[in-house]
Amino acid sequence: MYSSRAASRSWTGLFLLISALCCLFSPSLMVKHENFKTCDQSGFCKRNRAYADNAAATSTSWTSPYTLDPQSLSLKDGQLTGIILKSIAKDAEPVRLPLTVSFLESGSARVTVDEEKRQKGDIVLRHDSKARKERYNEAGNWALVGGLELNKGAALSNQEEDGYTRVFYGKEGKQEAVIRHHPFGIEFKRNGETHVKFNDRGLLNMEHWRPKVEKPAEEKKEGEEENKEGEAEKKEENSEEKGEDEGTWWEESFGGNTDSKPRGPEAVALDISFPGYEHVFGIPEHATGLSLKETRGGDGKYSDPYRLYNSDVFEYELNSPMTLYGAIPFMQAHRKGSTVGVFWMNAAETWVDVVKAKSSPNPLSLGIKSHTDTQTHWISESGLLDVFVFLGPTPQDVIQSYGELTGFTAMPQSFAIAYHQCRWNYVSDEDVMDVDRKFDKHNIPYDVIWLDIEYTQEKKYFTWDPLTFVNPIKMQKQLDKRERKLVAIIDPHIKNTDNYNVIDDMKSKSLAVKNKDGNDYEGWCWPGSSYWVDCFNPAASAWWKTLFKYDKFKGSAPNTFIWNDMNEPSVFNGPETTMPKDNLHHGNWEHRDVHNLNGMTFHNATYNAILERKKGEVRRPFVLTRSFYSGSQRSAAMWTGDNLAEWSHLEASIPMVLNQGISGFPFAGADVGGFFGNPSKELLTRWYQAGIYYPFFRGHAHIDTRRREPYLAGSPYTEIITQALRLRYQLLPVWYTAFHEAHTTGAPIIRPNYYVHPDDERGFSVDDQLYIGSTGLLAKPVTKEGTDSVSIYIADDQPYFDYFDYTIYQGAGHHTVPAPLEKIPLLMQGGHIIPRRDRPRRSSGLMKFDPFTLVVVLGKDGNAEGSLYLDDGETFDYQSGAYIHRRFSFDKATNSLTSINIGTKGPKTDAYLKLMKNVRVEKVIVVGALEIWKGKTEVTVSEEGSKESARRRKAAFEYHEGEKGKANWAVVRDPKVGVGRGWKVDFSG
Ligand code: NOJ
Repeated sequence: MYSSRAASRSWTGLFLLISALCCLFSPSLMVKHENFKTCDQSGFCKRNRAYADNAAATSTSWTSPYTLDPQSLSLKDGQLTGIILKSIAKDAEPVRLPLTVSFLESGSARVTVDEEKRQKGDIVLRHDSKARKERYNEAGNWALVGGLELNKGAALSNQEEDGYTRVFYGKEGKQEAVIRHHPFGIEFKRNGETHVKFNDRGLLNMEHWRPKVEKPAEEKKEGEEENKEGEAEKKEENSEEKGEDEGTWWEESFGGNTDSKPRGPEAVALDISFPGYEHVFGIPEHATGLSLKETRGGDGKYSDPYRLYNSDVFEYELNSPMTLYGAIPFMQAHRKGSTVGVFWMNAAETWVDVVKAKSSPNPLSLGIKSHTDTQTHWISESGLLDVFVFLGPTPQDVIQSYGELTGFTAMPQSFAIAYHQCRWNYVSDEDVMDVDRKFDKHNIPYDVIWLDIEYTQEKKYFTWDPLTFVNPIKMQKQLDKRERKLVAIIDPHIKNTDNYNVIDDMKSKSLAVKNKDGNDYEGWCWPGSSYWVDCFNPAASAWWKTLFKYDKFKGSAPNTFIWNDMNEPSVFNGPETTMPKDNLHHGNWEHRDVHNLNGMTFHNATYNAILERKKGEVRRPFVLTRSFYSGSQRSAAMWTGDNLAEWSHLEASIPMVLNQGISGFPFAGADVGGFFGNPSKELLTRWYQAGIYYPFFRGHAHIDTRRREPYLAGSPYTEIITQALRLRYQLLPVWYTAFHEAHTTGAPIIRPNYYVHPDDERGFSVDDQLYIGSTGLLAKPVTKEGTDSVSIYIADDQPYFDYFDYTIYQGAGHHTVPAPLEKIPLLMQGGHIIPRRDRPRRSSGLMKFDPFTLVVVLGKDGNAEGSLYLDDGETFDYQSGAYIHRRFSFDKATNSLTSINIGTKGPKTDAYLKLMKNVRVEKVIVVGALEIWKGKTEVTVSEEGSKESARRRKAAFEYHEGEKGKANWAVVRDPKVGVGRGWKVDFSG
């Protein structure tokens, strides 16, 4: 006994020693928290949280100091205007805050609050700053592209009530804004029920302009120096608002940088409550679950608000409200029967607190159950208060309304949704060509190979390293043989060096971001000393275009596309790895005001540049961006940045990509395999099996990692990864159709359970499985090591069939589905028709004229429906009607499958149909085949426009009885019907 204990003690000691040594010597993969602010370290966030705490602590006596002046109100042509008065110190004039409430044709409402003094420029800037005096009012110029038509029918209610103004708006006037005058607040109602409340908790806070009252020098106590880090508690004697933490009003320091704040405190904050809503989703980008957790501390909750301040967060941590690379301040609240949303259009650093308040059942009113309200608190450092309110009632309504404002996702080229092979770095043109050949040798499909920063000559973008990339054109010609593409990285930092025409040009034309003194801002990034192109400046964007012309970016070709990285912007020696907030952009807007827009202005400029590389060459650009804002979906794809080759990061990628989808930016993915570190072969394989469900599907790896192209994994991994890739390629018609739906309606490409089953309360927080488009394909990626089965949650009573062997799963609840390494858990929901292309090819371009297979998955009522969208996958001709859009329906009553046209005709329709006339449906598989078909050997096919003799013909038919637990299935062999034509397969004839 003793000896075994002693032995175990010495083993424990040894283990501890080894662990300690490991900690010392292995690089720890952990975010450096000290590099990024917490709310407590961000002056305006801390002040506004304190404001909220004070309001809560004094709730009985607390009154928000904002009053709407009823005399000032007027409603005209769908727009209500007025003045909110903020009362400050006794005897002081109240601060005038112009209010505009715009009621939009779409049924959305927009609330804007400005500050009169700043609006008029009636303020004094400190430090001789050249910054603009107004609150930033141009976010809409970048984010919005439509949906602003006013609802002229919006009308004041004739039901008068003292202290309130009521406006009916929206379709049939079913929506109502009830505006309370004192304290100012708004309730948004749909059909008489309140769904969204502004300032219900009294946390509205527009930090108004005030002059700095200098403290006489002699009053300073010894050792008290102004504006030093850690001096947050200092108070000013003569301030109007005693008791406020003023330590960061006029200057703020962090990590050795001091921000000069020439306009003083100017935060804008508001509480937005969703009564009766237990779930809120959205506000990417955070490495967190889909249903947002509470942020005010407590068991399993976060203690910091969700932060939106686009940042290059090295080795980011999971399950965290910390900011990441992009920001979409759009949130949806969801409950059974209703979804509503808000879009907080502010581009400055923003924090969002989320709390849930449970109301207890009222013992006196029987039958009234307890319910949960979600209360949010939005806090931005500067800018206007500018919020859109969407009243749903479905998740799709909310996402569509948001998309009508900010735009729908661009229709990608077809290669862009196939597989992308990347690493930092393919080291030479020979290396690229070798990888390309090896994919072919192993029969592994791929479409795009990527070049990271090392292809350039000393990190000078638009150049090639002359020693390693000797002949980029030859390299691209080889890729082009299989219709493959190249994506090359171009970042926004321009190397500050001699003999580099790009920097010379940018400097001489004054197109760089400026520092607070108005001189070109210099910082450090990959090239060392660099300057940043200021794409807020139209002249800079125009200049940027010129750099991509084939004769300027020599070595680029029509099959070169672009990757924009580091555009938060990442500045290695800047505060929080980005630019100083007092830097100046075009129009003298401070960086503070526009920070979250910065990345989008850059990838927009690149998109426009790719559009115009050569006169007459009009093809859809492809740009990948790391940083983004609302509207980025119109011109780029995104990925979730520098993840880790760990199972937990694979798992986290699913809710992150789902969240992008419901936040209007669905062309999203994560680095397959994990960026940092070397994945085990099992992890790499599972990651590919999951990656095939990312709308943007790219393998990528850090420069220090081992090579991991799929053919290197060895047997059986290479074969299994290849199968996964083939599945993606087989389902490309499904993905393309889903992209088209996203492009026209804003619908997410991969969809969470709540979106597909909005009334299924049990499934609201399910975020580890996904539906692909409208196809009923339900996937559950394996994200745990050593798994041989997964539990799939089914929300409805449709039959679900295993994609590969037609095993039936039916009944709401969890089902165990086998998932050994070689098996991808994928089910087909009954009631859908899934278009596929089954011929294995080396790239998507080679599949252009391949025939289709239709998988008809009968629902519980024996019917099924699906659609297919198809175009040339390259040009903008689809905008002139060059596309095929069909609806396929199987109708049990008529025992037939039909294809009808759901596209509208345009000038280029006929030419496209002619081009596609030989593309046919070569096979129809019916899963859940009807018993009445047993013994049948042929079906009757008829097709529009075919010759009289061929109008009704027979096609071979096979019926297969499913083994135990599996569905019966049937096959129609080569019905020879054109994919672009109307036709009917009659199963009774
Ligand atoms: C950071 C990006 O996130 C990563 O994907 C890329 O490989 C490196 N920059 C080098 O360009």
